[in-house]
Amino acid sequence: MAGRKPGRNFLFVPGPTNVPDRILRAMHVVMEDHRSSDFPKLTIPLYEELKKIFKTKDGQVVIFPSSGTGAWEAAITNTRSPGDKVLIARFGQFSHLWGELARRHGLDVIAQDEEWGTGANPERIEEALRADQNHEIKGVLVVHNETATGVTSDVAAVRRALDAAKHPALLYVDGVSSIASIDFRMDDWGVDLAITGSQKGLMLPAGLGILAASQKALAQMKDAKCTRCYFDLADHMRTNPSGYFPYTPALPLLYGLRESLAMLQEEGLDNVFARHRHLAEGTRAAVKAWGLKLCAKEPRWHSNTVSAIMVPQGFNGADVIDRAFRRYNLALGAGLSQMAGKLFRIGHLGDLNELMLLGGIAGAEMAMRDVGIEIVPGSGVAAAEEQFRSSQGAKETRIAAE
Ligand SMILES: Cc1ncc(COP(=O)(O)O)c(C=O)c1O
Repeated sequence: MAGRKPGRNFLFVPGPTNVPDRILRAMHVVMEDHRSSDFPKLTIPLYEELKKIFKTKDGQVVIFPSSGTGAWEAAITNTRSPGDKVLIARFGQFSHLWGELARRHGLDVIAQDEEWGTGANPERIEEALRADQNHEIKGVLVVHNETATGVTSDVAAVRRALDAAKHPALLYVDGVSSIASIDFRMDDWGVDLAITGSQKGLMLPAGLGILAASQKALAQMKDAKCTRCYFDLADHMRTNPSGYFPYTPALPLLYGLRESLAMLQEEGLDNVFARHRHLAEGTRAAVKAWGLKLCAKEPRWHSNTVSAIMVPQGFNGADVIDRAFRRYNLALGAGLSQMAGKLFRIGHLGDLNELMLLGGIAGAEMAMRDVGIEIVPGSGVAAAEEQFRSSQGAKETRIAAE
């Protein structure tokens, strides 16, 4: 199929996600002076609205013109010094990369490896913290939703582990593929640094790295010796309260963010979470009907934003992805690092509904059959349809829509 591809591209990678028309229109703006007296009217409310998304009252939110990786870097460099020990639960490509980033900034990174397909282990974390009697570990890093494997960890349980060990380490949480899609509670869970990017649950293009810091985290800034310039929180904290930035902000993205936050509030965050759960349950029903397995080992790890689907022995997940893209104009997520070739991922987050997702499931089904995987035609689509028609999530979603 050379040349023009008619119709829409079916974007089912777990970020970037579909940008709704409303947000595209909101971003279609002429440039303006970001130092004008009008500008704060756009920016100041964004911080208050973002606090609702992170569920923090006392935290400080900062918006960087960067992707999520920049927010990772900001979280580390603003609060830590070279040589500081941090403990990271590592069970997928993104937890691996975050640990690497900290290591490259000179931190002494203790990786607590868990099998890929599982998540953070609060008991092991508690054990490590109890053993650290001199409180040398300064931070515990957890990826809430490991996008590479479709695994969600229990951040509240990690908080309890810190508390049980009576350990003062800061809790750093990557919420890149959870925040605004899966319940996240910064204050309730005692998260000290929470980060996200714009291109997932916030339904925007990539380009904003968003960080929320607790008062406890901010208090550690003055002693943090990691080199920082572009990502220095202090510069933002000086300029943001009056509505300005220390450098030129990504203007259209800020207009898009305003629209995105309005849309999330209109739907209601709890309804957004219920919708993601409902869509994920439909996807999981399809996987079961295909006779395939998720990378996530047990239901308690199931992610409501991304399903990583193991291809049977003897097949390459990359072939499924390539076939889906070339033949059906469907973008599926790849297996990363040690999962390369072993799985493909369906991202089901952001601006998505049941019928859109059925299109993605149908395309995955056809692509798998095309490369020779034995799937009963229509089995995944039928199972997802029935899940959507019958489930409690559907009732909740319908009630929300009425
Ligand atoms: C969980 C998680 N953390 C961090 C990142 C890195 O974010 P970015 O690609 O926006 O820099 C990603 C990207 O997909 C992610 O899924």
